[in-house]
Amino acid sequence: MHSQGRTHNLAHSPIGAAFGLLAAHTPVRPLLNLSQAAPSFAPPAAISERVAQVAHEPDGGRYVPQQGLAPLRRAFADELSRDHNATIDDDEVLITAGCNQAFCVTASALTIPGDNIVLAVPYYFNHEMWLTVEGVESRMLEPGKNLVPSVDDAAKLIDHRTRAIVLVTPGNPSGVTLKPDIVHGFFDLCRERGIALIIDETYRSFRAATGPSHLLYQQSGWQNTLVTLHSFSKDLAIPGYRVGAAVGAKHLLGECMKIVDCIAICAPRIGQEAALAGLRHAGEWRSVQTERIADLHRQFQGVMQAEPGGFELVSSGAYFGWVRHPWPQRSTLDVIGELLTTRDVLAIPGTAFTPDDRSMIRMSFANLNAAEIDELATRLAE
Ligand SMILES: Cc1ncc(COP(=O)(O)O)c(C=O)c1O
Repeated sequence: MHSQGRTHNLAHSPIGAAFGLLAAHTPVRPLLNLSQAAPSFAPPAAISERVAQVAHEPDGGRYVPQQGLAPLRRAFADELSRDHNATIDDDEVLITAGCNQAFCVTASALTIPGDNIVLAVPYYFNHEMWLTVEGVESRMLEPGKNLVPSVDDAAKLIDHRTRAIVLVTPGNPSGVTLKPDIVHGFFDLCRERGIALIIDETYRSFRAATGPSHLLYQQSGWQNTLVTLHSFSKDLAIPGYRVGAAVGAKHLLGECMKIVDCIAICAPRIGQEAALAGLRHAGEWRSVQTERIADLHRQFQGVMQAEPGGFELVSSGAYFGWVRHPWPQRSTLDVIGELLTTRDVLAIPGTAFTPDDRSMIRMSFANLNAAEIDELATRLAE
């Protein structure tokens, strides 16, 4: 069979590669797994109970309306409206099978092969992978000071085939939260140039800052420019239920639904019921978890201050530390392999998030507990 299609030249996701390394390794000490950013704790009881209940309901296994369960769209539109002091219509919410699917359908609905999309570096690897599959060029927007992208630099990358700029805030892998005025600057640029601003807000709840992540939903006609992407995976500790959302113009979501129809028909009902139960009943649980992860972040920053073993914390936030390893002359992939074999530490190479090797490593510190973060510093220092 001829199998040299769109995926042929695409590297496997770094998460798969990390798990591959793990499969070939027998840890001597308990593994410190800083690879995939996945909540290591159980979802709130309100979710598990609701999921068990739905499984017994006659329509528990049926498809749902393609745009998503109406009460979930309403509850999420309400949450965003409350958080941003704005009015978001439930028709402006599309429930997807996770934030990854939200990105894929949005990017595909906005582009044709040969177009380009601007990605702020370091980018989220699945964004770049999907654009490659779609024959869409990823234009790299190199970071400015403190890893904050510059609007002026972005303006220089835009041409007649540019369809969108993508920001991820807080960033994966950088952990950096962009301040509202920066996000607003990008919005103005995109509006002026008639392109979309896509903001992946998977880690919105894990910002250090309080207050709204931006005030763009208050701008009249925001839907002509802005699409925000969301995930319930981390907020509610349900990554396996596959539920996220895209928020934007109704007509754009209609286009996205054509693709959702082909690849999934609709996002899983059980995940949507889980997310709805979480939005309705797990407010306090969510605050406890975000505070707990903020504590882990403070501790991680604390232990990394001493630059154990020469590993330098460049930025951090949400779930991630973006760390420079001390061997610029070595390939980061090798360094990752050695961290696993000699220190039983699994992390993701920075090469997954940048166009070339910059001696960076992504560490998902939020996967660990307090004792493990101390242990990480000890092992890095070895
Ligand atoms: C920036 C970013 N976007 C999207 C996702 C995927 O989220 P979901 O599980 O909702 O598909 C992740 C998960 O790690 C992420 O870090």
